[in-house]
Amino acid sequence: MFFELNEEQLAVQAAAREFAQKELKPGVIERDAKGAYPKEEVRKMVELGFMGMMASPEYGGGGMDTLSYVLAMEEISKVDSSCSVIMSVNNSLVCWGLETFGTEEQKAKYLTKLATGEWIGAFCLSEPEAGSDATHQRTTAVDMGDHYLLNGTKNWITNGGSSNVHLVMAQTHPEAGHRGINAFIVETDWDGVAIGAKEEKLGIRASDTHTIMYTDVKVPKENRIGEDGFGFKFAMKTLDGGRIGIAAQALGIAGGAYELALEYSKQREAFGKPISRHQAIAFKLADMATEIEAAKLMVYRAAWLKDQGLPYDTASAMAKLYASEVAMRHTVEAVQIHGGYGYVKEYHVERLMRDAKITQIYEGTSEIQRIVISRAVLEGQLYLPVFGSSMEQKV
Ligand code: CAA
Repeated sequence: MFFELNEEQLAVQAAAREFAQKELKPGVIERDAKGAYPKEEVRKMVELGFMGMMASPEYGGGGMDTLSYVLAMEEISKVDSSCSVIMSVNNSLVCWGLETFGTEEQKAKYLTKLATGEWIGAFCLSEPEAGSDATHQRTTAVDMGDHYLLNGTKNWITNGGSSNVHLVMAQTHPEAGHRGINAFIVETDWDGVAIGAKEEKLGIRASDTHTIMYTDVKVPKENRIGEDGFGFKFAMKTLDGGRIGIAAQALGIAGGAYELALEYSKQREAFGKPISRHQAIAFKLADMATEIEAAKLMVYRAAWLKDQGLPYDTASAMAKLYASEVAMRHTVEAVQIHGGYGYVKEYHVERLMRDAKITQIYEGTSEIQRIVISRAVLEGQLYLPVFGSSMEQKV
């Protein structure tokens, strides 16, 4: 096994780190407090090529591997997860989904704009009554011959108010269940697309989360992605990669909180010495460092599997499950280490704790990841058996 990053990956990591430190850190507390969309910061992410990192250069993307994308997500998320989720949805749900499953015409028309960041995309699967149970889509797309007529409501849509293009999942053949779902490319300035108010959220407050209403939206036939009925599989396959991005976000949040807690504990004195020298705090730091390292190996491995063209659905679910739980657990501990200072908004650490929570919810809750993982476990995909059947275990 080879654990070193190559030169390109190290350069991406350094660039993202510098960007996060110089451009994101100064205003992040204020943007969070106001819930202000980071327009200028997104413009800089576009300039730096962070919005279409994995898309092929022929469509205007960076042509980078998934691990480079993960490294950038991690560094940016240490400081500002509102920015990193905007980037994550555009990269791993919208650009990747279009490049992998779109037609050449769709890529020429849409991916070229999305990969360069000229346009921003959103991924519209969740509905008021279909979140985790994503097969039960109530949004409908009725086949009208030369176009589809789209009607329905989507919610919790990241980039909902700031995007030019939506990838929308909708039911075309209700009698066929999930095999009747299709995915469509919808331009947000088409008649019938209405954007609801921005959500007031606990965390990632600067990112742009909206409910979207579609009323008799005419979607040209050529804007359907894949074969008729491919929409649910499109969503699932795309989310397999998306979850690696969110796992990287969680890893970054945990890393940022760890760094803040470590530095604070070295400076803050109690009972005649820095609190880091008290075992109660030192052991917390040891647990943080160990679990963050374990999460890092899982997230990087999931990215590596994807880059090798090997199956990564279970690895990505495991990485997201574990990294998000580490992020939640250790941002809480980081606040605890800061004591009262951890509980006030002039310090970054309370924001990281609030931001961590969403990584256990979006792109599949921790419970959904456990469904995905347990299915792989029960199919015997994960370990080579040693003991054989339960009967053979008897001595
Ligand atoms: N790849 C390819 N196909 C897949 C798949 C995958 N990873 N997972 C499921 N499928 C296929 C199955 O093979 C099956 O197809 P067939 O019937 O043709 O064999 C079909 O999809 C239905 O699958 P299941 O029978 O497993 O369906 P289910 O209802 O039991 O469970 C689920 C599916 C895994 C729970 C799924 O509903 C799920 O992932 N739910 C969570 C949805 C989610 O992650 N939402 C996030 C919203 S997006 C977001 O948050 C973006 C943002 O803005 C930040």
